[in-house]
Amino acid sequence: MPEPLLEVDDLRVTFRTRRGTVTAVDGLSFALAAGDTLGIVGESGSGKTVSMLSILKLIRDPNARISGRVLFRGRNLLELTDRELRDVRGRDIAMIFQDPMTALTPVYRVGWHIAEQIRAHEKVSRQAARDRAVRLLAEVGIPEPGRRVDNYPHEFSGGMRQRAVIAMALACNPALLIADEPTTALDVTTQAQVLDLMRRLRETHGSAIVVITHDMGVVSEIADRVLVMYGGRAVERGPKREVFRRPRHPYTWGLLDSVPRMAGPRVRRLPMIPGTPIGPLDLPAGCGFAPRCRLRHQACEVRPELADAPTGGTRNGASEHVDACWLPAEGRAALRERSREESRG
Ligand SMILES: Nc1ncnc2c1ncn2[C@@H]1O[C@H](COP(=O)(O)OP(=O)(O)O)[C@@H](O)[C@H]1O
Ligand code: SF4
Ligand SMILES: [Mg+2]
Repeated sequence: MPEPLLEVDDLRVTFRTRRGTVTAVDGLSFALAAGDTLGIVGESGSGKTVSMLSILKLIRDPNARISGRVLFRGRNLLELTDRELRDVRGRDIAMIFQDPMTALTPVYRVGWHIAEQIRAHEKVSRQAARDRAVRLLAEVGIPEPGRRVDNYPHEFSGGMRQRAVIAMALACNPALLIADEPTTALDVTTQAQVLDLMRRLRETHGSAIVVITHDMGVVSEIADRVLVMYGGRAVERGPKREVFRRPRHPYTWGLLDSVPRMAGPRVRRLPMIPGTPIGPLDLPAGCGFAPRCRLRHQACEVRPELADAPTGGTRNGASEHVDACWLPAEGRAALRERSREESRG
């Protein structure tokens, strides 16, 4: 793997609550090179958002504790001052959230948001920033951008707002874009356009992208590599082709089986894996997926670490395919088939 742009090492995020300590992220590690797209996938509550927010120290809860290392171009973001981080955010690293309204202030015009983003990081005139805002709105497919630039957020549709937020994120050509469920609230057509915009950012500027989603369909369209999260931990990580062709972890099997296979309008629904996701207050000592796993056995009472299979998969740096499960490395496809048949009853 070329020199990573972002290296997350043993990231851990806990919250002190009245009911006890909540472990939202439990030792997450991954690396990302320029131009690479990582899809982080997992059901709701698996720690996707908290892990990305903590990377940029955007968790404001005073009861939160973050540990580990987050190296961006070799600097540990967790050790930067607020001032230093403000420079990094927006200019080097941009973030898009599921709800575009979190990024838009209702009393300011759409164009103001984009222009401010530019002026916060570059010395340009108001007029020049506004001109660029118009161009960016055109680029993300807003019709009549010269007029729309003066609209307020509430005058935009949901899809247009998400595109405006993307225009803000693209304003400074960030080296890294973190997109948290960027398409979840959008219709299928707008979703395809948004994914296309992200692809273009990668192609024209060599930006790296982390896209968070609960939708394997989104991952299959845009990611180069995949990280599957469950209960605050990575349970599988590898090149997309490998993970889709030879998924190793029973939880990943469930996610893949819940992707509608048929062509036509995409059915938008959460994965249907039997059982409920574990809450972060009751993480089991062993494998977190055990309560829902048909293949659990005695070994599973001990926590399995992310590990390379002794056979199969490619094993050079970024393309390594690892998972955290005690099942024998070989014959997983047959096990998957068998457990699928059993689940049909
Ligand atoms: N401020 C907080 N205090 C306590 N628990 C929290 C806090 N923020 C998030 N959590 C918990 O952390 C877990 C991970 O949340 P999150 O990262 O939002 O999941 P995801 O984005 O994968 O749906 C959830 O169980 C959530 O309830
Ligand atoms: S370690 Fe055990 S419980 Fe966990 S996924 Fe593998 S077989 Fe299932
Ligand atoms: Mg989330």
